[in-house]
Amino acid sequence: MRSVRNRIVAGNWKMHGSRALLTSYVQDLARELDDLKQARQQQSSVQTGTDEVSVVICPPTGYLALLADLLHSNGLAKQIQLGAQDVNPHSQGAFTGETSAAMLRDLGARWVLVGHSERRQYQAETDELVAAKTAAALSLNLTPVICVGESEAQREAGEAEQVVASQLAVVIENLGASALADCVVAYEPVWAIGTGRTATAEIAQSMHAAIRERLAGWCGEAAERIPLLYGGSVKSSNAAQLFAQQDIDGGLIGGASLDAREFAGIIAAAGAGNG
Ligand code: 13P
Repeated sequence: MRSVRNRIVAGNWKMHGSRALLTSYVQDLARELDDLKQARQQQSSVQTGTDEVSVVICPPTGYLALLADLLHSNGLAKQIQLGAQDVNPHSQGAFTGETSAAMLRDLGARWVLVGHSERRQYQAETDELVAAKTAAALSLNLTPVICVGESEAQREAGEAEQVVASQLAVVIENLGASALADCVVAYEPVWAIGTGRTATAEIAQSMHAAIRERLAGWCGEAAERIPLLYGGSVKSSNAAQLFAQQDIDGGLIGGASLDAREFAGIIAAAGAGNG
């Protein structure tokens, strides 16, 4: 039986999108989710409670306001929440090109990704900076989704669990263990991102169990309530198997979240595992 943890499916659009794409995507998604709802009502004996799933879309920051409007006008504002892909750790000031946590909230975001491996790689983000961004998000009641994960070389060297633990440890050192209770952790092995090489359900579960054990060491019983998401080549065809694992509470979806039908299929897979 699954625990009390909420299921979460979050789409990370990365640097993709346009006004035209957003407009047609939201219409398509509304239709797909409606179809799902009807299918569910028809087979009411089968529990697929998609309402139990928190669905988040993280578009590029510049499209947050447009996405908010489109969700509202297509009747999805209650079903789908907005997230950002990054946040600056400062509250305001001379930081050209940056966006503060308060601005993200103002634009309608309630979630924010921090420490995505692409930012660690291309923007040289350190664990300390990720901790500062987590603090900035928490101070404005944005839910931080802390992204962690090892490279292929680190996995081959047998260092995967240690790498992930040390990425999280820096957040604890800087913010204290209690802060993690309000966060979500996303395990995204770098070798599985955008490669089509999903971690097997066994590999993903084994890492998630290891993360939960670490969390329990740091914050005791609260660890049972911290959602752990898996990310890396999740598709509608492999989502159900991943989400069926004891410690996998949903997914952080890249490429497949840009296709409304695929994304709806993944949301359905998360709902089907409830209860
Ligand atoms: P893909 O689903 O495209 O592999 O990307 C995963 C990811 O990086 C989500 O943050």
